[in-house]
Amino acid sequence: MNKDKTKISNYYDTFSNFYDLFSSKAYYRIPREFAIKELSLDLNQTILNVPCGTGQNFEYFENYLNNTGQIIAVDLSEGMLEKAHIKVKKYKWKNIELMKEDVTKIDVDWVQCKLGNNLQFDAIFCDLGLSGFPQWEEVIDNLISLLKPNGKIVIMDWYIDKPSLRGSFIKWIGKGEVDRPLYQYLEKRVCNFKLMLPLSYPNPHTLLFFIITVCLLL
Ligand SMILES: C[S@@+](CC[C@H](N)C(=O)[O-])C[C@H]1O[C@@H](n2cnc3c(N)ncnc32)[C@H](O)[C@@H]1O
Repeated sequence: MNKDKTKISNYYDTFSNFYDLFSSKAYYRIPREFAIKELSLDLNQTILNVPCGTGQNFEYFENYLNNTGQIIAVDLSEGMLEKAHIKVKKYKWKNIELMKEDVTKIDVDWVQCKLGNNLQFDAIFCDLGLSGFPQWEEVIDNLISLLKPNGKIVIMDWYIDKPSLRGSFIKWIGKGEVDRPLYQYLEKRVCNFKLMLPLSYPNPHTLLFFIITVCLLL
């Protein structure tokens, strides 16, 4: 692993000890519910969640999958994955596979090598990751390439295009950016692009939060 990735991984290993307190379930509940609903999940589907962090999304996925299908949950940080593992054990979820990996390595060849059988995903959820990932355009392209025809990718992330105290804080705590043109890039790459805002953050011009929903008709 290169120096920057080791730094990020070490940072999140430490942050994992208080992530669920600090970035609380309550704080992101509405955006998560909203974003995951947009995935149109159903029983027996195959889902990729990257970065899965401490597994805060799992209970929302399970509302639709009910312990069926397969959820591949990937993160770079051992510490974050350990917390995710605790949730998986506690709730006896049998359909979740946790994997430690750098997202920039995830492409069709990686899936074939690690998961086999030309696996393709019904849905991909990338939340609070692309604002920090290196080579984020390539990551978006690779994720899109892993979807089944008619699969969906939902990206939930920050977008604050003007300098602000809030933006500076989020950059500091998340070790990422808040003004990457993620949705502008994605819009050019897919069909049926939707830019949506959860009810709690209704005004795009106050630049608080955005959710990208994409349905791909390949
Ligand atoms: C702000 S947290 C978000 C976690 C989770 N998605 C959530 O919403 O709670 C960012 C996550 O990205 C992970 N991460 C950072 N760089 C990564 C990379 N190159 N590959 C995979 N995961 C990465 C970190 O370990 C951390 O868990």
